Amino acid sequence: MINFDFHKYVGKHIKKEDKVVYLEKAQEIKSRFIDGDLSYLNKLDTFVSKDELHQILDTAKYVKNNCDVFVVIGIGGSYMGAKAVIEALSPTFNRKSPEIIFLGTNLCAEEYQEVFDYIREREVIVNVISKSGTTLEPTIAYNLIMKLMREKYNDEELKQRIIATTDKEKGKLREEVNENGYTSFVVPDKIGGRFSVLTPVGLLPIAVSGINIVRLLNGATESFKRVDRALEYAIIRDILYHKNKYIESFTVYNPKLYYFTEWLKQLFGETQGKGGKGIYPTSCVNTRDLHSLGQFLQDGSDYIFETVIGIEKDTTIRLDQYDIELNSLNRIALDMVATAHNNGHTPSGIITIDEKNEETMGELIHFFILASIAGALLLEVNPFDQPGVEDYKKLIQEELK
Ligand code: PA5
Repeated sequence: MINFDFHKYVGKHIKKEDKVVYLEKAQEIKSRFIDGDLSYLNKLDTFVSKDELHQILDTAKYVKNNCDVFVVIGIGGSYMGAKAVIEALSPTFNRKSPEIIFLGTNLCAEEYQEVFDYIREREVIVNVISKSGTTLEPTIAYNLIMKLMREKYNDEELKQRIIATTDKEKGKLREEVNENGYTSFVVPDKIGGRFSVLTPVGLLPIAVSGINIVRLLNGATESFKRVDRALEYAIIRDILYHKNKYIESFTVYNPKLYYFTEWLKQLFGETQGKGGKGIYPTSCVNTRDLHSLGQFLQDGSDYIFETVIGIEKDTTIRLDQYDIELNSLNRIALDMVATAHNNGHTPSGIITIDEKNEETMGELIHFFILASIAGALLLEVNPFDQPGVEDYKKLIQEELK
């Protein structure tokens, strides 16, 4: 379960009357989420149907039994959510087979070459993920890897080794599926890339990693009932923004949540940063970053606030010299740093999960999805587009011509 008591921590920076102006707007957004045009975000079927879920579980089983390396091609929302959940919930060493490699997140030849050299002699299954089917990086990654796959496998074998996750009708990738009979999954119409981790986009790679996706979805369902909580967080962020807090640090105290903060950066950056508005998302992994960015947060320019994500129950290791568990010391550090920041210029709110598992990750994901959309509505920007991303894509395409 998520324990949300954000206001308790940042309350000093927010007056009662700051919240009053939001009453009407909050009610309007809430009813859109509960039974209006955005209520689809609180229905599991929107993300994945029962049939698809079975198909994903069967495919994941097949992948686990038939390859050494599962290459997942995608960028932005087409990879970040899966990467975040897998890193958060998998052991650091000796992970279950198959090994999962994410490709198509850059144009770096050195990385491609190393991946190709590594997988050449291994059994490979590829999951290419692109909602539009036209994004430059995954298109390049797909074309390059297909060259290698054709050297390794014949057409019949390729049918068992290429899985595409894309739009149900449109795009180059859907054409590939139709022409070659590859297994495919659909990115739901209504769900944009950065909101798609709970759809086949994220669920298949996560299931292949051995994480229980049914429990992940159960966690998300918990959050469906708590629209108010996401709304409250969105309002507090908006109040802080209007008090010139233009940067939000997502701060964690378990390095396994590093990619979760990357996912949050994408989620909030693309959902809210438009029309000359928005809070710039950044992150800290503490206590490491207390010895770098910590200085700035405590003592630097005062346009930053912090959203701290803590874990109540973690692995226990006894620290004899202090007669305390290491995790309790980590928790003391989290509380004391937030207190120090709140006493200074950086409002620091804390959200905790009871423990890091599938349910709490699912709940956190859905909570932040709703909060990012609610925040965009408060800013009066469209949560669902990303015109800035399109601009650079167009320029590269023109330059290529
Ligand atoms: O959130 C978004 O919509 C983007 O980050 C996309 O996920 C990203 O640009 C990749 O797009 P596509 O899945 O169409 O290749």
